[in-house]
Amino acid sequence: MKLSKYELHQPLVLAPMEDVTDLAFRLVCKQLGADITVTEFTAAEALIRNVGRALKKIEILDVERPVGIQLFGSRPEALKEAAAIAETFNPDFIDINCGCWVKNHVARTEGAGLLRDLPLFEKIVKATVSGTKLPVTVKTRLGWDQDSIVIMDVAKMVEAAGAKMLTLHCRTRAQAHRGFADWTWLERVKKAISIPLIGNGDIMTPQDVKTMFSTGCDGVMIGRAAVANPWIFKQAKHYLTTNELLPEITIAERVNLCIEHLQNACRLKSCRNPVLAFRKHYVGYLKGLPRISTLRNDLMQLEKIEDVIDRLNAYANTHL
Ligand SMILES: Cc1cc2nc3c(=O)[nH]c(=O)nc-3n(C[C@H](O)[C@H](O)[C@H](O)COP(=O)(O)O)c2cc1C
Repeated sequence: MKLSKYELHQPLVLAPMEDVTDLAFRLVCKQLGADITVTEFTAAEALIRNVGRALKKIEILDVERPVGIQLFGSRPEALKEAAAIAETFNPDFIDINCGCWVKNHVARTEGAGLLRDLPLFEKIVKATVSGTKLPVTVKTRLGWDQDSIVIMDVAKMVEAAGAKMLTLHCRTRAQAHRGFADWTWLERVKKAISIPLIGNGDIMTPQDVKTMFSTGCDGVMIGRAAVANPWIFKQAKHYLTTNELLPEITIAERVNLCIEHLQNACRLKSCRNPVLAFRKHYVGYLKGLPRISTLRNDLMQLEKIEDVIDRLNAYANTHL
């Protein structure tokens, strides 16, 4: 598939996740095989108002290319203006979030709220396209709920409105993250459009990646499984080419990557207190390791990077 100037074969995409996929985490996943990354979603209105935190969120680095900046909003003019601002940060594409299920967002007819107002959805895509020379892509869901699945119309509409790629989280808004993602829609949507289709929802294992590709989708997006196991990109690529699974990740590999990620987070200062913000990542890195409850409790108390690194190394040394 083609995205911007890149020709990609079965790309694996790191899902945009608010408060998770900051630059430091995107670099970890890129190094482990993610082909495309996307920033956390950023409010178009905040970019227009020059809000510092919003501008920080859309900083990218060349090593993560192709990389997209994700925007959300409900005012077409705001999306147009924000797309032009985002373009100055030099991403490879601008993605529009049309899938966020959270109440406050849908109440403002943004995110998945657009699935209840397709004329506005269309205006938003067209306005964003008109605001930038970069390719514009759309990430959305099947529909508002099981009784209003609109993805076939939406897929054709976004293509006609100028979108260059569609990502489909195969759930409805009503499902939020519950129930199962229905991947059977990918096959149907793929047949209806000619822009690349990225499948998303419930990828947990390398085998899942292969199964999702068998629907005919062009790329596979991975979210929560990458938080629990950033190695999934490398593992899935190996499985796709050999049909075999890589050996388990060792304790030393887990601890070393955790430290590297933390060091990146502190160096890049994606937020005010990177060590505290990093706490959400311990669960993923330490999952399945022996006797981790004490370690995890200790780490949750520590506030200095040197102390965290010492504690992690002490754990690794006693378990080698
Ligand atoms: C903590 C969290 C934050 C998320 N933030 C975003 C976001 O900023 N933009 C977006 O399009 N989707 C967001 N999502 C949805 C994911 O991108 C993805 O569509 C969803 O988690 C399903 O994929 P998965 O089953 O592989 O996790 C978020 C999901 C989670 C769990």
